[in-house]
Amino acid sequence: MLSLKNGLLLQSPLKTLSFLVFQLLLLHSCRGQSLLIGPSQPIVANVGGDIILPCQLEPGMDVFDMTLEWTRPDLSPEFVHVRRAGQHIAVTKHPSYKARTFMFIDELRHGNCSLKLTDVKPSDAGRYQCYIPKLSVESFVDLVVGKWTHSVSTVWCGSHPEKN
Ligand SMILES: *[C@@H]1O[C@H](CO)[C@@H](O)[C@H](O)[C@H]1NC(C)=O
Repeated sequence: MLSLKNGLLLQSPLKTLSFLVFQLLLLHSCRGQSLLIGPSQPIVANVGGDIILPCQLEPGMDVFDMTLEWTRPDLSPEFVHVRRAGQHIAVTKHPSYKARTFMFIDELRHGNCSLKLTDVKPSDAGRYQCYIPKLSVESFVDLVVGKWTHSVSTVWCGSHPEKN
């Protein structure tokens, strides 16, 4: 009788704990319904070229009026491209990205938050974060920048001596 009582006493905190964990998991999965999807592999760009950093909200809802942030956490200021209330905010940007970043306005209507980066520089290489504060979702893109510009490598390939 005593041992049974002790057993119950020991069991109940465990039960309570597992119930709480279950509740937390349930709460989490109900709240976090949206997901940002980034590329599974690094994106490779050439110096002087343009590149798209992919970022897609699933399920694809309209994010046009939401705050959207593309950042590089290793920079200061870290902002690469920021939209607030449907407008591109230029003031908080890192100066290196001035006038080189674009989002696809029509694509925002179905959750495509991809960023276009033009005139790629070697210093653009790094890890980018795509973030929607309202939904607390984020994804990451690693950008690798090739050493040679496209035109230089073409010239090099064209004039490469062939043995004959
Ligand atoms: C997002 O938009 C860009 C630019 O139009 C496009 O290249 C990309 O494929 C789109 N992504 C998805 C998942 O539709």
